[in-house]
Amino acid sequence: MDLHVTLTGSGDLTAQIYAQVRAAVLDGRLAGGDRVPASRDLAASLGVSRGTVTAAYDRLLAEELLESRRGSGTFVASGCVPPVQIPRRARAGAVTPTSLWAAPIATAPDPSGVTFDFSVGVPDASLFPLATWRRLVSATLRRGRLSAGTYDGPGTGAVGSPLEAEIARYAGLSRSVVASGADVVATAGAQQALDLVARVLVEPGYVVAVEDPGYRAAVRLLTTHRAVVRGVPVDGEGIVVDALPDDARLVHVTPSHQHPTGVAMSRTRRIALLEWAVRRGAVIVEDDYDSEFRFADRPLEPLQSLDRDGRVVYIGSFSKSLLPALRVGYAIAPATLTAALREAKRVTVWDGDAVTQGALAAFLAEGHHAAHVRRATKVYRARREALLQGLTGEEGLGDRLDVIPSAAGLHVCALLRDPDLDDVTVAEQALAAGVFVEPLSVRHLEQPARHGLVFGVGGIPLERIAPALTALRGVLSASPPGRLGGG
Ligand SMILES: Cc1ncc(COP(=O)(O)O)c(C=O)c1O
Repeated sequence: MDLHVTLTGSGDLTAQIYAQVRAAVLDGRLAGGDRVPASRDLAASLGVSRGTVTAAYDRLLAEELLESRRGSGTFVASGCVPPVQIPRRARAGAVTPTSLWAAPIATAPDPSGVTFDFSVGVPDASLFPLATWRRLVSATLRRGRLSAGTYDGPGTGAVGSPLEAEIARYAGLSRSVVASGADVVATAGAQQALDLVARVLVEPGYVVAVEDPGYRAAVRLLTTHRAVVRGVPVDGEGIVVDALPDDARLVHVTPSHQHPTGVAMSRTRRIALLEWAVRRGAVIVEDDYDSEFRFADRPLEPLQSLDRDGRVVYIGSFSKSLLPALRVGYAIAPATLTAALREAKRVTVWDGDAVTQGALAAFLAEGHHAAHVRRATKVYRARREALLQGLTGEEGLGDRLDVIPSAAGLHVCALLRDPDLDDVTVAEQALAAGVFVEPLSVRHLEQPARHGLVFGVGGIPLERIAPALTALRGVLSASPPGRLGGG
């Protein structure tokens, strides 16, 4: 274990070494069983005689803070348990972040330990083809660019990096997005793609429109770029184009599967949004965060492929089709923006994680992603059908909840029929009954809140869905569980 020791002056050097090693053991920087530097090495690095260091170690051995093991060196005594770490208190006048960072986005309660988990936005990790992934990561480590020791990855000229070329092919085949590798910027998730777009477009006071209800992390992110974020209502056809603020210069939308209502933006609305963007000189960010999982026959064309004027940035993610922890997503941008997006990425994360990107390029090229999405779609389809059956069927919750139709993605939203019920209270009572489900109203920004429940199907096994809905019926039947204004 490396240990930083500083000697000052020419006073008692042994005492200084003794005090610093002792402090490191007592405050937990060195734990029981850690090896301390060999006396010869520490002496050499400090420019003192070896005897100076061994004298300090001898005192610590005598105090039983260190122990020596014959033939293998000197260690922190195994009985030394690190103390509980107490966060350091801020002093008056200490550095503080700007007010934007004063509080985190309200997070959902921890669903661990609940019996029925309808968490939104998470895939089923047990479906992830770990053995294949492990093989591809090993192969990438063997032959990848890790041997180069440079910051920059493979050139991104006309074809993009190997991953960017594969993403262009994938988005072209599966979503009819029109792109070559040069149009793709691989990112650490859709969230970073949005961050890069904001970095290169947003200036302080720039008005950005978002769907309301919508994706709260997008609002927070755009606000940190000093945008003025305005919420625009969503109806059964998607964002209400006529309600877009006149001065909006960028709009963030989720047309395949509106987050969180699930609505698919109609074709008429897509055309109207594109016409609006052309008229206003505005940019559309099309966030296609979970549309790999489709449950209707014919998906609507993405805005990106309808766009003839270079107004759409399409962003995507492998967080739902694979795993959020991989942190891979992408932006597919008009040619006028790609160089700036790449530069914005370079000054934040350079090329990102070469190992994951290399493995994912091979994963896509060898057809594993397509096969995995096919398999996972079957699993999610069965869960979704069971959920819809339970929410709408004769015996179901149809008298309490009104399901919003959707055709893709990993969650379903249903409105509470009783206009007096508060969804936060219902969700709290559901949690007490073992069911984790997310309230809709908290995802509003400025529009009047609708009250409903959002059910994710990524985290709940098929056989738990019916019992979960039975438990939820118990909660809703016991209504009025909480009236509006109560939560
Ligand atoms: C609408 C929307 N956009 C973006 C993201 C972020 O995805 P990523 O994990 O790729 O950053 C999410 C995640 O849930 C999302 O729901």
